[in-house]
Amino acid sequence: MENKTRGNWGTRIGFIAAAAGSAVGLGNIWKFPYITGMYGGAAFVIVYLLFVILICIPVMNSELLIGRLTGKNPVGAFKELVPKSSWWIVGAMGVLAGFIILSYYSVIGGWAVAYIFKSGAYMAAGAGTEQANVFVNFITSPIAPIVWHAIFMAICIGIVMAGIEKGIEKYSRILMPSLVVLLLILILRSVTLPGAGKGLAFYLNPDFSKLSAEGILAALGQAFFSLSLGMGCMITYGSYLKKDSNIPTDSYWISGADTLIAFLAGLMIFPAVFAFGLEPGAGPGLTFITIPAVFASMGAIGHLFGIIFFLLLTVAAITSAISLLEVVCAYFIDEIKWDRKKATLIMGITIFLLGVPSSLGQGVWSGVKILAGRDILDSLDFVASNILLPLGGFLTLIFIGWFWGTDKAIKAGNEGSKGPITLGNGYRFLVKYVAPIALFIVFLMKITEF
Ligand code: TRP
Repeated sequence: MENKTRGNWGTRIGFIAAAAGSAVGLGNIWKFPYITGMYGGAAFVIVYLLFVILICIPVMNSELLIGRLTGKNPVGAFKELVPKSSWWIVGAMGVLAGFIILSYYSVIGGWAVAYIFKSGAYMAAGAGTEQANVFVNFITSPIAPIVWHAIFMAICIGIVMAGIEKGIEKYSRILMPSLVVLLLILILRSVTLPGAGKGLAFYLNPDFSKLSAEGILAALGQAFFSLSLGMGCMITYGSYLKKDSNIPTDSYWISGADTLIAFLAGLMIFPAVFAFGLEPGAGPGLTFITIPAVFASMGAIGHLFGIIFFLLLTVAAITSAISLLEVVCAYFIDEIKWDRKKATLIMGITIFLLGVPSSLGQGVWSGVKILAGRDILDSLDFVASNILLPLGGFLTLIFIGWFWGTDKAIKAGNEGSKGPITLGNGYRFLVKYVAPIALFIVFLMKITEF
């Protein structure tokens, strides 16, 4: 539905940049490298790739074709496909997940922005424990991180308010190529450091003994989160596609770009960490403590590389955060009939406020533990990424495979697709059997984590 008031992508490359921008985020830069190193290097990468191909690409095709066919936000899309049924709840769960994820994602995004300007502090802190203090002192303070969270959110509001073509697409077309350039500069520095080989070995030597059941689950969860699936993000982005776009081909481009950048992030991080004899720490610690220690060890030039790194992290986070905000806004624009400006402003501010407890939970409210000893931020992340996303993805597959029908889906997905790549029996088999069964298993195992 090419709808003038909703907006459309201006160009194919702009759509791919925006969708890949959504996919490439904090998940790629800090999480992928760390779990790859932890669960067996190349062995983990092989499993991850299998999941991307067998499960995630079918889900992405499904979300995009639902979006393009209906031209609606996730709630409206299900309502249009099956009026008077309860399937719209799947879309509503997605909008809710977007709300929750963005609230804490923006807090971490704020840390990334702050660190662009904190190079003086971490350069002075050196490679010892003082580096951890710089980070902990910052995130536990009551005001500063909330101010950076507000700044991060304000940037996202500004971009989303400008619309699909003039906002999200325009900035993605600038930010995504910049991200690749920044990444390549850092990889070049990292792999040419003396002693870099040890890091490459840690990252990539296949070690199948480390590939536990837990590692396999981590691979699936990560693939899902990293490709922005399971909450109608791709339904929403698909709804701005023109009818002549080639959905299966674009899915390959988006997934390929996301996977490549995740892989490259590891090439940037591990050689440098090992070259300076540091321990590859986990999660936020790797990004905000170990990596700054690497820059501090480089001497004066580390200053510059530090700024480049946190700029890269910020860019990755912004292009993901705007996709989360867009899902929420699209719902209010289509279903509640707000105009874009009102929707972005009200929802952006609401989500910012919802994020404040996640920030305070690092410091003044650190005594507040919700799910099994998790702080506020980790609890929200747990509910969203381990429950809402896999459930959303699973129900989307069941919807297409067993309810709405793969024949209609294949017809809708192939419409306008010129060229050799189309949806067919392979897609049908994956959507009906392989992907939902695999997701169901993961979902069960995750739930027991409570
Ligand atoms: N994919 C992003 C990352 O890797 C995060 C993200 C953006 C996301 N939009 C999403 C995750 C939608 C799940 C669903 O950081």
